[in-house]
Amino acid sequence: MDEYVIETEQLTKVYGEQTAVDAVSIHVKKGRIYGLLGRNGAGKTTIMKMVLGLTSVTSGQIKVFGKKMKGQEKKIYPRIGAIIETPGFYPNLTGTENLEIFAKLRGTSCPDAVKNALEVVGLPYRDKKLFSKYSLGMKQRLGIANAIMHDPELLILDEPINGLDPIGIAEIRNFLQDLSKERGKAILISSHILSEIDLLADDIGVIHNVRLLEESSMEGLRRKNQKYIMFRVSSTATAAQILEQKYGTVKYRIEDDNAMRIYDMSVDISVVNEIFITNGVGVYESRVCDESLEDYFKEITGGVGIA
Ligand SMILES: Nc1ncnc2c1ncn2[C@@H]1O[C@H](COP(=O)(O)OP(=O)(O)O)[C@@H](O)[C@H]1O
Ligand SMILES: [Mg+2]
Repeated sequence: MDEYVIETEQLTKVYGEQTAVDAVSIHVKKGRIYGLLGRNGAGKTTIMKMVLGLTSVTSGQIKVFGKKMKGQEKKIYPRIGAIIETPGFYPNLTGTENLEIFAKLRGTSCPDAVKNALEVVGLPYRDKKLFSKYSLGMKQRLGIANAIMHDPELLILDEPINGLDPIGIAEIRNFLQDLSKERGKAILISSHILSEIDLLADDIGVIHNVRLLEESSMEGLRRKNQKYIMFRVSSTATAAQILEQKYGTVKYRIEDDNAMRIYDMSVDISVVNEIFITNGVGVYESRVCDESLEDYFKEITGGVGIA
């Protein structure tokens, strides 16, 4: 099956003068976790809201389960679970009571829906604790339980791990991976934290300044990461001049006064070492390194990085 669970084409949202999403085309697949990575204000929430029909589309197209959403909402909504803004839980009721209300409102047919959903997220069923006494982590879990209660095929979770402690994050990561791997759900999740997406996602869409800079499988992205030669020298300004004189178009980047990278692996480290030294540049260190994802994003965002 090569049909995407979510497919957007040149999706764009403009609020007055402000473009919130600019021509974003993403592809979310069944049984995989798709991470939308981007800083605050990048456009992640707006993309999700448009996919869910919570805000209108300025231009472009969205298909969910291979169909255009418009006019099909009644058929499509029951197949989706989402957290965009914190759901309005009642503070003076318990978690179980809250979910029971939402289950009734949605007409969820399975009698064990609430119990099962609480079990997936690791919250107790029918305990006495009121929602107002829940920790942030428990509130987030209850939100996810609410989103999965009707056993949807697609989950859309906007920054669900914000503000969680590391153990909570690891647990949520585990059950999201179970939901996708064991139960074939498609999951679209957003985060501004690269390391989280790195650990969680199978596919990634990098959103920067309201545009999609990169869409790839995590595996493909890791494979693509370049090697480079790292030099620590007495003066990167002088070293750069020498490089340009000797090598012309060699691709390099200056990190600071003393550190620089050469991305052209055809240059010979020992030759460059010697050229630097004979031209009065002290070389303190030189070695071949693997670029990290963080480095890669710094490069594609023009130096500012993602998170
Ligand atoms: N209702 C709105 N009216 C005007 N501008 C908005 C509105 N919602 C979002 N924006 C702007 O659109 C951009 C993307 O926002 P958002 O989708 O919330 O980003 P993210 O979720 O990645 O932090 C931001 O510049 C934000 O200020
Ligand atoms: Mg947001």
